[in-house]
Amino acid sequence: MCGIIGYLGGREATPILMESLKRLEYRGYDSAGVAVLEEPRQGHATRTSVTKSEAKVDTLVEKLEANMPSGKLGIGHTRWATHGKPTYINAHPHTDCKGKIFVVHNGIIENFAELKAELEAEGHEFPSETDTEVVPHLIEKYYKGDFLAAVRAALKRIHGAYALAMFSSEDPELLVGARLNAPLVVGLGESEYYIASDITAIIPYTKRVLVLGEGEVAAVTPLGPEVSTLDGVTVKSKIVHVDWDVAQAQKGGYPHFMLKEIHESDEAVANAMRGRLSDDGAVSFREFDVSDEQLKSVKDVLLLGMGTSLHAAMIGEYVIEDWAGIPARAEDASEFRYRRPTVGKDTLDVVITQSGETADTLVALHQAKERGSLSVAVTNVIASSAARDADGAIYLHSGPEIGVASTKTLLAHTISLYLLALRLATVNGRVSLERRQELVESLRALPEQVRGILARDEEIRGLAEKYSKYGDFMYAGRGLGFPVALEGALKLKEISYVHAEGTSGGLLKHGPIALLDDQFPVVAICTASATKDKMVSNVHEMAARNAPVIALVTDGDHSLDGVATDLFVMPAVEEVSSVILDTVMLQLFAYHVAVKLGQNVDQPRNLAKSVTVE
Ligand code: G6P
Repeated sequence: MCGIIGYLGGREATPILMESLKRLEYRGYDSAGVAVLEEPRQGHATRTSVTKSEAKVDTLVEKLEANMPSGKLGIGHTRWATHGKPTYINAHPHTDCKGKIFVVHNGIIENFAELKAELEAEGHEFPSETDTEVVPHLIEKYYKGDFLAAVRAALKRIHGAYALAMFSSEDPELLVGARLNAPLVVGLGESEYYIASDITAIIPYTKRVLVLGEGEVAAVTPLGPEVSTLDGVTVKSKIVHVDWDVAQAQKGGYPHFMLKEIHESDEAVANAMRGRLSDDGAVSFREFDVSDEQLKSVKDVLLLGMGTSLHAAMIGEYVIEDWAGIPARAEDASEFRYRRPTVGKDTLDVVITQSGETADTLVALHQAKERGSLSVAVTNVIASSAARDADGAIYLHSGPEIGVASTKTLLAHTISLYLLALRLATVNGRVSLERRQELVESLRALPEQVRGILARDEEIRGLAEKYSKYGDFMYAGRGLGFPVALEGALKLKEISYVHAEGTSGGLLKHGPIALLDDQFPVVAICTASATKDKMVSNVHEMAARNAPVIALVTDGDHSLDGVATDLFVMPAVEEVSSVILDTVMLQLFAYHVAVKLGQNVDQPRNLAKSVTVE
């Protein structure tokens, strides 16, 4: 949700904070702020300069450029409001009564109301409406000359979720980070250190990070970080090397990250297969190295995710059942966590999360683990919470995804789930060598086929511009086309704010069709599949209600000529390949509608890339 950054080193902190906040903006962008401990000037005591903006990071940067604080220690924040509107007062950093302790926070402090009442009764004053503000005041309450001890005492009182970066003007060489149920990394540079919500913020500076564990505190001094628990017990943390490069986190000539990331789909698809698939279709996952015997004992598969990742889960559900013959179900993780789940030792629990930090997905993972099931995280972020908490990980290797709406990583998720399904099918003896080889050929052809769709960007833009005048859209598909339709609708509504809903072709007649008229277009997924003819009948029903129809059809199929308003002709490929190609087309369609409508596609209103609160 919010993005946090801290710096301690030999360089000027402000430009580094500004740069990092821009990289973190996809996590939240309601308002922003920094606090920099200024170098003491002759005859003056140390002072902290605080700069905030009630708008995006760019406005903050303008303010900082006009009046640049100079200092080697600082913290910064970009906010996605939970408690209190995005105003100047509510923007972070927050401070204590004396203005000595400065804190930025991502997460939600669940018991803030009672803590605030207690502190107010003791005379503390709270100008903001945020939950965060209790943190500096609690630290102030416990401060007896040792900042770190006061931080630990304060954090022991807090329930909920936090990733924090903090300093006190009394300790000019100490930057403190802490986490509980929210991600935080410590970046290790050359005699300089960073604290950040995620790796993307700091990749230009270092590729060596130390990932804090739950309930751990990092005390960073010029000598380096020391990690300990809230009880002060020293923790030996693992250093992780990150292989993302800076160019991947920049727009590289594209007008938006989203467009750039869609154009990286071919690579994302190739990277998800790399090193995992032999010519005869044998699949191996390095970080999910379980024996055939163990996989053979899997009796059912539970796939958990949220948003776009839930749609990937639905695709996984179809292919695992189809290829491996094992019952599989995709679940909305936020609902699953409040049910009485019927998972057990024979269940394989697959959590699908690009960021690896989605709060609901993580809780659902923990619950499934408690019931003793084998778990694997399909994620893009190395050493993310999901990757660490699950028994194994299947990394997407897609490079950073900055656009808030997931695009390339959905394709990588889908490929990863195909490989998992193939592995399960193989251990269960459900797939012949011949069929495996056929599938391998189809999957290996995909990057080139994706490039074929990307090359049709102009054609898709034309279609999108033609349809951008409509205020409602229905997306319909069957079988694997159903999650594709749901995702197409999600992509359109989240970035263009145009109403769009997804339905299965069968469900259409049970309500949604009532909406259709000549002002309510339909996007119909009619590419080759076992249910294609049924979809064709559905399109006839839609067209009979005068709905304009864009139909995605397979090359050579003329069954919708003269029926659909616009045909988008797709290459003749396997159904599992169509999922990928159709998705890329619908991502580009949504992108171009949103651009035509003048929306901020990389940072759509009210959304955040990573939802780390419930
Ligand atoms: C947010 C993002 C979506 C994403 C979802 C799940 O809603 O805006 O793009 O699909 O979170 O994120 P995850 O990181 O768990 O895949």
